[in-house]
Parts: sequence; structure tokens; C-alpha cells
Amino acid sequence: MPFYVKNALRVVKKMNRDETIHISVMADEVIEGFAPLSLKVFYEGTVGGGGHARRILASHPETEIYIGCDKDPHALEVAEKILSPWRHKVILIQGDFADLDHHLQDRGIDQVEGFFLT
Ligand SMILES: C[S@@+](CC[C@H](N)C(=O)[O-])C[C@H]1O[C@@H](n2cnc3c(N)ncnc32)[C@H](O)[C@@H]1O
Repeated sequence: MPFYVKNALRVVKKMNRDETIHISVMADEVIEGFAPLSLKVFYEGTVGGGGHARRILASHPETEIYIGCDKDPHALEVAEKILSPWRHKVILIQGDFADLDHHLQDRGIDQVEGFFLT
């Protein structure tokens, strides 16, 4: 195994689970991609620890509803803390993003301006 891979694995092993949940890949690129859009309602199917959600919410004050779904209850606990400044906008759902239709219909939402999975 190459040295840099071994080193990266060593670092990740040392981190606790919450810290690894906080790593959000390509967050700058995600923010850049959504920048031109007005995101009134947003659905994130893999909200994890809320790292992308935090960045999106901070950059889009126009967002009225941010639905964050994840199957992992522990990740959702972390997301709940991180997203507490936006708690009045955030709906966290423990479930599978494959049930997106139900998640939206149950809340009377028929359209979203933003959708994200990673
Ligand atoms: C890379 S992490 C998400 C990172 C997150 N966007 C962030 O900002 O930190 C992937 C997440 O997808 C969740 N996940 C995987 N398959 C899923 C599914 N079918 N439905 C809901 N969540 C899922 C995992 O539990 C995990 O928390």
C-alpha cells in the first residue's frame, strides 16, 4: 500500500466517529454549483453530519425549508447540533432517500429547487 494511503488511514483511525462524520467532500465545489440558484426548498438525501447542509444554508438565506434525510441516526444527531442555527428551517428525517416522494408528499411539498446526494 502506498505511503500516503497508509498515512491517511492512520489519521482517520485516530479521529473519532463524529469527526469523520464532519468531513464533507468537495464542499466548495458544491457551493459554487448552487450559487446561481434561489433555493427555496432543498432536499438532501444523504445529509450525514450536516457539513454540506451548513454550507448551503449559510450561503442561501432565501432557503425556507431544508430537508435532510439520512439512514444513520447517529449522523442525524450530529447534523441536528450543527444545523441548530437554522433549526426553524431544517427538517431531519431518518430514512432512505429512495422514499423521497413520500418525504415530500407527507409534508405537502410538490417541488424542490435544490437536490443533493453524496
Ligand atoms: C458521505 S456521507 C454524507 C456526507 C454529508 N453530505 C455531509 O455533508 O457530511 C454519506 C451518508 O449517506 C448516508 N446514506 C447512504 N445511503 C443512504 C440511503 N439510501 N438513504 C439515506 N442515507 C443514506 C450514510 O448514512 C451517510 O451518512
